[in-house]
Amino acid sequence: MSRPELVAPPEIYYGDTEATKYTNNTRIQQIQADMTYRALELLNMPPDEPALLLDIGCGSGLSGEILSEEGYEWVGLDVAPSMLEVALEREVEGDLFLQDIGQGLGFRPGSFDGAISISVIQWLLNAETSHPTSSPPHRLTRFFTTLHSALRNPSRAVLQFYPTSDDQIQLITSIAQKAGFGGGIVVDYPNSKKARKVFLCLFVGGGGGGQQQVPKGLEGDEVDGSRAKFEGRRERAAKSNKKRKEVKGKEWILRKKELYRQRGKESVPRDSKFTGRKRKPVF
Ligand SMILES: C[S@@+](CC[C@H](N)C(=O)[O-])C[C@H]1O[C@@H](n2cnc3c(N)ncnc32)[C@H](O)[C@@H]1O
Repeated sequence: MSRPELVAPPEIYYGDTEATKYTNNTRIQQIQADMTYRALELLNMPPDEPALLLDIGCGSGLSGEILSEEGYEWVGLDVAPSMLEVALEREVEGDLFLQDIGQGLGFRPGSFDGAISISVIQWLLNAETSHPTSSPPHRLTRFFTTLHSALRNPSRAVLQFYPTSDDQIQLITSIAQKAGFGGGIVVDYPNSKKARKVFLCLFVGGGGGGQQQVPKGLEGDEVDGSRAKFEGRRERAAKSNKKRKEVKGKEWILRKKELYRQRGKESVPRDSKFTGRKRKPVF
């Protein structure tokens, strides 16, 4: 079967039927959840501080749901309206924006404490049109440059993706570096055809979290040949979750957003039905 990104542009591929099918598939739910937990581990956020995260290519909110469970506030971006519709129907807690990340992100500098992206950036490797500024390098450059600016210093972004070759990994990492990021690639289960997962672990400044080095990939056990063993991580995450949930909530994000306003945020991105479901956007 062809890879989805080779079949059609994302907003076409993830139409109403596919968006629902994708979201209701229990195996997909499990795999995306596993990768989200691992991305959070690599993000290495301080355990007891409130944080606002960006979920790049949030889709129907499978990864965002875990961000909420873990006590994070989040903003999700996606180019497929049907995916965002499903996210709205599922009443996810993040604020949702309809946005092609290849056009760049329209957030003010330092808006986010970290970012994750699960199974998305391989889509940027396929040209949207034959126009030169729609080429993958141009789209990747706009994406990484504006992502770098949208993150606070220091912080991290962890982007899991599905490359088809080392050349693709090289292209992505070199453009991320030119945009100002440190960090590099983490490969989990490198010797397993099915469980192998590639994470681009990017640092702004020193990357925060006390570690300046790119974390090591996981080796060894797999559950069933395609899913990695993350149960221990989940238990640990659940423990830290209890702690996190006590320290913040909606009120915190409203206060933080109010603070941004007071600091003179001017550029409010275009409004859409996906923007600020419960409150007005301030980025
Ligand atoms: C495999 S889904 C993953 C969704 C979600 N991250 C998850 O883990 O369930 C890939 C998502 O990337 C989104 N996507 C692809 N290209 C994009 C782009 N240029 N801008 C924004 N979103 C994009 C698609 O619309 C789709 O929702």
